[in-house]
Amino acid sequence: APMTQDELKTLVGRAALAHVVRGEIVGVGTGSTVNKFIDALATIKDQIRGAVSSSVASTERLQALGIEVFDSNAVGELSVYIDGADEIDGRGHMIKGGGAALTREKIVAAQSRRFVCIADASKQVQALGAFPVPVEVIPMAAQRITRQFAAQGGQAVLRLKDGAPLVTDNGQHILDVRGLKITDPLAFESEVNQWPGVVTVGVFAHQKAQVCLLATPQGVQTLQY
Ligand code: A5P
Repeated sequence: APMTQDELKTLVGRAALAHVVRGEIVGVGTGSTVNKFIDALATIKDQIRGAVSSSVASTERLQALGIEVFDSNAVGELSVYIDGADEIDGRGHMIKGGGAALTREKIVAAQSRRFVCIADASKQVQALGAFPVPVEVIPMAAQRITRQFAAQGGQAVLRLKDGAPLVTDNGQHILDVRGLKITDPLAFESEVNQWPGVVTVGVFAHQKAQVCLLATPQGVQTLQY
């Protein structure tokens, strides 16, 4: 039978164990693919010191499996950060934040020497932007940021949860922006980062992946950037 997307995620979550440096603290992302990685990580928990987590959800899953979670300020630079993506291009630039954890994800990624992206083949794209770009914003700036995106041809929509604005782990809101042509991810990220009230833009070009483990029905491919 053909592999389901869930099985591909399990496969790549296990493959990521080869990139975990034994005896150290590993940076852990967020999402359904990372959940498979966390489950796999539990099988080698005696071989690592613990984790720095990028979300409340990942922290809870790590702790439930007996993996110690450290405050990011209590540890130094990490060797490796392992996380999923909503899109990844041919240079390791990504769109992230489908799970609303983009700010802490970018913080832990920046604290890590190497970003290992784990994804199924559906996430690979030629150019970023078909997936709506998540942007975490200070709520009082949402209208103005929406107009700034409109001036660039983007349609920003406030993300809702159960009919009310979604509130992130950091107490802020998320705009999902459709219709953007991101020809230069580095420049786009830099520009949007300057807009007042933007907390984090979900384009990861400055914190790009060095490696992508891509799950395909033929097995896990390793891409290096
Ligand atoms: C979380 O905020 C995101 O950046 C995730 O890394 C991304 O949405 C991938 O999630 P899945 O593994 O669930 O597709």
